[in-house]
Amino acid sequence: MKKQNYSVAVVGATGAVGNEMVQILEERKFPVGKLKLLASSRSAGSYVKFYNKDTKVEILDEDSFKEIDIGLFSAGGTVSEKFAPVAARAGCIVVDNTSAFRMDSQVPLVVPEVNPHAIAQYKNKGIIANPNCSTIQMVVALKPIHDVAGIKRIVVSTYQAVSGTGKKAIDELQNQSRDILSFKDVECKVYPHQIAFNCLPHIDVFLENAYTKEEMKMVNETRKILEDNSIRITATTVRVPVFYGHSESVNIETGKKITAGEVRKLLSQAPGVTVVDDPASATYPLAIDAAGKDDTFVGRIREDESIEKGINMWIVADNLRKGAALNAIQIAEILVKEYI
Ligand code: A2P
Repeated sequence: MKKQNYSVAVVGATGAVGNEMVQILEERKFPVGKLKLLASSRSAGSYVKFYNKDTKVEILDEDSFKEIDIGLFSAGGTVSEKFAPVAARAGCIVVDNTSAFRMDSQVPLVVPEVNPHAIAQYKNKGIIANPNCSTIQMVVALKPIHDVAGIKRIVVSTYQAVSGTGKKAIDELQNQSRDILSFKDVECKVYPHQIAFNCLPHIDVFLENAYTKEEMKMVNETRKILEDNSIRITATTVRVPVFYGHSESVNIETGKKITAGEVRKLLSQAPGVTVVDDPASATYPLAIDAAGKDDTFVGRIREDESIEKGINMWIVADNLRKGAALNAIQIAEILVKEYI
């Protein structure tokens, strides 16, 4: 018989994404029976509000997942590598927001608007991976175009908010901005350079090919989610002094000619997408407008006049919601509706 309620654990419940997960579970009335909030010993004794009730944060350990149905993980790759298999062995289905399992061929990498069918593969390892934030919003907008016109090549540059790095980075941007405006010296603890009033073309570590790991996540994850290894993709990922909301300049080359008008029409009917595109009234997607919203916003849609079959667009979404917590909970919603 189908369960009415599910026991849910949030791993990293005191973090930027974990907090958002708890809020979204409540907002969307996810059928939570018991909610277990997990973090490290640093947070022992703290509380997080769930339906107006202060819920105690517990310390993550090997026994945390007994009788837990779904584990939403967002406490970093090292924690997931160690504890996601522990949870899965205990019978808990893990939706993992880190990069630990994304490219594992046994683990589905899912964006519900794009490849919900892949969720069925959760049975392989008991783990479903939530893609990288920048990848999620890009594929939500590109999937409908790919289906109609066949995307051959993607050139993307990102403008990513500091909240993607976590709570400490939000504090760092706040502190540096305040210190600079008060003519004080700035302290750089999270990023290698000052982030306030600056742009850093460096997200995650540099790899041997001179790309960053974040850039290669966009390349590899996009191909896996769109189930098309023939798409050529190149990315430049940049951290900007924005608190919430990632923006992306995306250029695509298609196999079949598609006009800007056709793209606008297609995207205005696409699930999870809102077209915001009226240059005459200076209307286009903005990070400050996307923050707190569920949709991916697309604007500045225009034909690339330097090639025969190309489109440029500007894609914006709340990195903590669609880019992380919301996408994970949408996956969990499909799990409980169709699989468990
Ligand atoms: P804690 O508050 O105990 O440090 P953010 O991405 O905003 O920095 O948040 C990271 C989240 O992951 C926090 O909830 C943090 O908990 C949690 N976390 C980090 N390391 C561990 C660990 N080793 N075990 C459990 N939770 C961890």
